[in-house]
Amino acid sequence: MTEKQLIELLNDLSFEEKIGELQQLSGRVYFGDDGIITGVDSDENLTEEEVNRSGSVINVVGPQKILEVQKNHIKNHPHHIPMIFMLDIIHGFGTSFPTPLAQSCSFEPELVKEIAHEAAVESCNAGLHVTFSPMVDICRDARWGRVMEGSGEDPYLSAKMAEAAVLGYQGDDLSKEGTIAACVKHFAAYGMVEAGREYGTVDTSERFLRQYYLPSYKAACDAGSALLMTAFTANGGVAATGDKHLLVDILRDEWGYDGAVITDYSSIHTMYSHGVTKTHKESAKLAMDAQVDIEMCSYCYHDGLPELVKEGKVTMEQIDRAVLRVLRLKNKLGLFENPYRFTDAKKSLEVINNKNAMDLAEKSVAKTSVLLQNEDKILPLKKEEKIAFIGPYVYENDMYGGWSIRNQRKVEPRNIETVVNEKFPNNNFIFEQGSEILGAEEPILKYDRARSSTLQYEADSNLRKEKIAKAVEAAKKSDTVVMCIGEHTKVGGELAARAHIDIPKIQKELFDAVAAVNDNIVVVLFDHRPLDITEISEKSKAVLNVWFPGIKAAEGIVGMLFGETAPTGRLTMSFPYTVGQCPIYYSQLPTDHSPVLEKVYVTGYIDCPLTPLYCFGEGLTYTEFEYGEIKLSKETLSEGEKIIASVEVENIGERDGVETVQLYIRDVFASVSRPLKELKGFKKVEIPKGEKVTVEFELTTEDMKFYNVDLEYVWEPGEIQVFIGPNSKTLNYKSVNLV
Ligand code: NOJ
Repeated sequence: MTEKQLIELLNDLSFEEKIGELQQLSGRVYFGDDGIITGVDSDENLTEEEVNRSGSVINVVGPQKILEVQKNHIKNHPHHIPMIFMLDIIHGFGTSFPTPLAQSCSFEPELVKEIAHEAAVESCNAGLHVTFSPMVDICRDARWGRVMEGSGEDPYLSAKMAEAAVLGYQGDDLSKEGTIAACVKHFAAYGMVEAGREYGTVDTSERFLRQYYLPSYKAACDAGSALLMTAFTANGGVAATGDKHLLVDILRDEWGYDGAVITDYSSIHTMYSHGVTKTHKESAKLAMDAQVDIEMCSYCYHDGLPELVKEGKVTMEQIDRAVLRVLRLKNKLGLFENPYRFTDAKKSLEVINNKNAMDLAEKSVAKTSVLLQNEDKILPLKKEEKIAFIGPYVYENDMYGGWSIRNQRKVEPRNIETVVNEKFPNNNFIFEQGSEILGAEEPILKYDRARSSTLQYEADSNLRKEKIAKAVEAAKKSDTVVMCIGEHTKVGGELAARAHIDIPKIQKELFDAVAAVNDNIVVVLFDHRPLDITEISEKSKAVLNVWFPGIKAAEGIVGMLFGETAPTGRLTMSFPYTVGQCPIYYSQLPTDHSPVLEKVYVTGYIDCPLTPLYCFGEGLTYTEFEYGEIKLSKETLSEGEKIIASVEVENIGERDGVETVQLYIRDVFASVSRPLKELKGFKKVEIPKGEKVTVEFELTTEDMKFYNVDLEYVWEPGEIQVFIGPNSKTLNYKSVNLV
């Protein structure tokens, strides 16, 4: 439709139809396969006519069902307007890929884009129109359960990944097959919840908000994200879903964002829980004034808008603006011309787990896994040796992680034991489960209201001892032990905040018993978040952090362990030395911290190091690299000029390899305190054994800008240190003067 036709349609809609467009239904409304509304009672506030007028729905899955629901909807809607089907497709649809946090560790926006594209291809024929992704909340606290959904602690990297995901989902034209609309979330700073407490308090200054937390949302908006979702949280007491400054002054007016803004699940209503509004009507008023267009699954607009309009507290112009944004979204998706938009059960079955997607899933495991240590080059494994594979993840097929769609796949994932045996049928290997993932004493079984009744755990203490004893016997007989251990696959995502960030006790007991009889331990670690593994790392030679790698986990992991591929991921979130360090991140502000001065009044702790166990950017591979001195193309830089920073990197190891070269800057003196280091560039380069390559980065004064005390985005004259190295610890730098 043309804009003119859209406006004509808008003008033709009744007031009730307009309110309907702003209402998102919960998928609970539809059950049974006939697409008939059978559950109006579950959305107790709505009549059948109101359900028929609703603009979109979340959580209806299955092409057949979606077709039926859409058919009925179009038939029953007074203007026959199709509805939009939305779902959380977070790291793949039928093909599950590594979690987003893992993907960010690839330092490859191109990979993130390809993964998003495959997710779009698989979900498009299944009838879905919008995915609630990417989640771009910066998070520096491993206790928060949702860190697995984002790109970690750094604004620059996160912005690159946000842009890539949007482009991957949406392609260049949302009306084309194989695309799905992106919805960047959660605006803003949900990842800054204090102590990682789910839905907790956020309190960040506007300067920090703009400097560190907003850039990744902006990158997604600039890339064309068709939707943006508000956050559940309240920053400094201002509820995000009614935050006019954030949603209007910054998002609409400064950034010029004209996509549709949707609430999080009932987050208009949540303003009541924040103690900010007493009634649905008050909540509706705040959200309308903040230009929120779609209300997900609560009924404040439905209940409040009619009176608000009558009383003149909300104008028809406000409502029309929101409705027009919904109609434009439908138009972008091509729904007016193509209301069933490629929904096709047969084709859907063909594209699910297609070869491209499955190959990409396998390839991405090595790119996203981070080799944290590798003493004596114990990895890759030597297949002639006697190797024991021990731990619950040896036999576990579900290595999907949180926010996974498990019921849309055609192909079943395999486990590590199966894949090892298939690759090496005449091996010398032993396999022992050693323990279940969880023991009966695990705190999550007591406190986790959402999952605890469905989680399996070892309740029999005799069996527990027997399994450990068998594992110890296996370890005694082996040259090397590969221990596949970690968090439960369902203990990540929303409502998965943890105060203890270690591996379950039952597995720690197993690990300690095995480590007591064998020194050659390789840990393959499964996790949603950086865990506290200080003791484990001390007792192991190698730690290979694989996060949750998805449907091809076993194939990808075994390939890496035996050196067919090499892990090339780098941490995008620091691993704390202990949970007490959280939040911890590399780009701290400078303070009295310099150990060379041997001062007493230095920042830090008296019972643990100041630095994390593993820092941002850290990660090894199966070869080594040496960095040369940095060269800068000039010594001074003025406004609008460019400078080229370059460095030679040599592969001094014994095999070809891939290095992630990272550039950081430090603004030494400025009108506000600037971080010790800030990432401003990265390049992943293949370097053959024995060869040297020159890696170049271009920097401008734009890269040196920051928000000053008056919230102006400026650069200031003075020294900028430019660091280039393998991780955020690098001390290799050269200075340039801004003049
Ligand atoms: C709540 C979550 O915060 C959000 O990320 C998700 O997209 C919605 N629920 C819909 O499932």
